[in-house]
Amino acid sequence: IDIKTLRSDSGGIITIDPGYKNTGSCESAITFLDGEKGILRYRGYSIEELAEKADFLEVAYLLIFGELPTKAQLDKFNNDIKEQSEVDEDMKKILDGFPKTAHPMGVLSSLTSALIAFNPSSVDVSSEEAMYKAIVKIMAKFPVLAAWTMRKIKGLPLDYGDDSLGYVENFHKMMLSKPNKGYEANQIVYDALDKLLILHADHEQNCSTSTVRIVGSSHAGLFASLSAGISALWGPLHGGANQAVIEMLEAIKADGGDTAKYIAKAKDKNDPFRLMGFGHRVYKNFDPRAKIIKTAAEEVLGDLGIEDPVLDIAKGLADVALNDEYFVSRKLYPNVDFYSGIIYRALGIPTEMFTVMFAVGRLPGWIAQWREMRLRKEPIGRPRQIYIGENHRDFKPIDQR
Ligand code: ACO
Repeated sequence: IDIKTLRSDSGGIITIDPGYKNTGSCESAITFLDGEKGILRYRGYSIEELAEKADFLEVAYLLIFGELPTKAQLDKFNNDIKEQSEVDEDMKKILDGFPKTAHPMGVLSSLTSALIAFNPSSVDVSSEEAMYKAIVKIMAKFPVLAAWTMRKIKGLPLDYGDDSLGYVENFHKMMLSKPNKGYEANQIVYDALDKLLILHADHEQNCSTSTVRIVGSSHAGLFASLSAGISALWGPLHGGANQAVIEMLEAIKADGGDTAKYIAKAKDKNDPFRLMGFGHRVYKNFDPRAKIIKTAAEEVLGDLGIEDPVLDIAKGLADVALNDEYFVSRKLYPNVDFYSGIIYRALGIPTEMFTVMFAVGRLPGWIAQWREMRLRKEPIGRPRQIYIGENHRDFKPIDQR
């Protein structure tokens, strides 16, 4: 068979793979993931070691540029980001236009897209230098916008941050400083937040990252691609699961804490309920990030002297599920989102903000994937389909239908 002729005669031979369960969309040198063995590495470095020894900005540099930075490289990256941390005052008018009840992910996606109008040069990525400028701009402005989405829902005046603080500390301050009461620094909180952001920083071709790459493949700019990625992350089957987990744990608590009842619901195929924070498209073993987060949650709650009954419910659910034939046979384990919300709560971050926290962590991964796609000059992403609709039909005027 001549494939070329066949394609033009009949529409061609097309593999159909809903959800792209077995379809590779690119070659990538950024993140290695072995879901059977539960291994995750960024640029060859194990996630366990990075979470323990590196800080978020170092990991961002590693993901985006391929190597761990020297001290001089990291200082330059950090300073370049600080230089760009201002956000145009007119962006506040856009933020003001949203109702207080708006979901922060919708606001964040809109503001990220609006940023293009205020930074038109960011669309120019014709050289690596221009690309670097766009990257530094969004690394600087994104945490500001993310923090603003929280101040919006809380009705607080905006905080412009403090450049003398580190990246993660400054983000935390911009979110949580109180008018008249200032801001209390806390190393335990910073360390926990830093770790969470590192664990979320990249995860190869997931739904939001593939979205960033496919939108970017049309040569839409970086910020437009990121805005689309934020929308993809919002969904409860993806990043939105961290919010859904806490809401589920709260509902179980309010219902008397009967974990067995909810395990039974999750197994019942006539019940749409799913155990949020369980299962993963790629991990068929314990998600290595969930292991680190589980330990971190216990440490942070202990260090801050917080007792959260929701953590006990989470542990109870996990214990039952991990010994239940339904979950064992389907290889359903807790994923990264199962415990992360418990830490965010302990850090004083409201539930609606959890997915925004994920987005701030994922930002360097999205940038790295977009940059790799552009530097490799990948073609426009354009999947095919198998048409299953009507054959040719003659048009009927409206009075004959
Ligand atoms: N609770 C109960 N059953 C589940 C769950 C769950 N959380 N997850 C999967 N299953 C079951 C399915 O019903 C299916 O059963 P079947 O074979 O009897 O039909 C089987 O396990 C396989 O599930 P699929 O939905 O086909 O797996 P898929 O790879 O498409 O979905 C997903 C993965 C979306 C993560 C799914 O496990 C899920 O919905 N989990 C809950 C939401 C969640 O935690 N999402 C966060 C993922 S991590 C992230 O994005 C950061």
